[in-house]
Amino acid sequence: MDGRARERIELRTRDEIARIREACLVVHDVLDELAAAAVPGVTTADLDRLARTRARDRGAEPAFLGYHGYPASLCISVNEEVVHGIPSEGRVLREGDIVGLDFGVVLGGWFGDSARTVPVGRVSAEATRLLEATRESLRRAIAAAVPEGRVGDLGAAVQACVEPQGYSVVRDFVGHGIGRRLHEAPQVPNFGTRGSGVVLRPGMVLAIEPMVNAGGRAVETLEDGWTAVTADGSLSAHFEHTVAITEDGPEVLTLGRVGPGGGSR
Ligand code: MF3
Ligand code: CO
Repeated sequence: MDGRARERIELRTRDEIARIREACLVVHDVLDELAAAAVPGVTTADLDRLARTRARDRGAEPAFLGYHGYPASLCISVNEEVVHGIPSEGRVLREGDIVGLDFGVVLGGWFGDSARTVPVGRVSAEATRLLEATRESLRRAIAAAVPEGRVGDLGAAVQACVEPQGYSVVRDFVGHGIGRRLHEAPQVPNFGTRGSGVVLRPGMVLAIEPMVNAGGRAVETLEDGWTAVTADGSLSAHFEHTVAITEDGPEVLTLGRVGPGGGSR
């Protein structure tokens, strides 16, 4: 997202959060389907079509399509691609790839946004370790999303998780508030200092999205104007959830529907 630091931070009611969750459920279910479909031989354009079709089947519209001119419904970032990879007919997934799937929808005027990085077939131990570390860093950032916490606590949690493992945190892209628009205030960097930044309040809804590189943190943008890649060619992973801050703590909206037994996926 781009900077709108002075914009006010919206606080959503329980009912509004329930609407955002409806959008987030579509995102979750589509990502589940995309993850299962990301097998050797499939093109990234195939996955883009699948995402668009499934969202529309559910009455939702892909949030990224046309956003600042973005030409597709889904961002697919393979291996050293960090974020905002554009799907194409020519890009065939191969065994051993790691594939970032980043998807958002708008449903009834409310947005949801989530990303995961998934292995295609069997991947290297090194790639698996990066995926696990990045997923864990998101889990820890979410755990820090509590009332009276600070935005800086989230980034600090990401850094503390991955940097001791020799990884680096991407700084050129950040998470964001979300609700009536895809990107709202505040910005949510994946690096920071505990106790600094905006105070977190019940009703804030944040898209928290660490991007972690196996090598250095520097990224470059390809000539397509969108695809961000690691400057050193190292692997990169990205996980994102839309999270509501409630009196009872963080509520992850982009998980599957919680069943009667309380189990969620
Ligand atoms: N999750 C990404 C983000 O919040 C997706 C935006 S892609 C764009 O930045 F194409 F819509 F820009
Ligand atoms: Co996002």
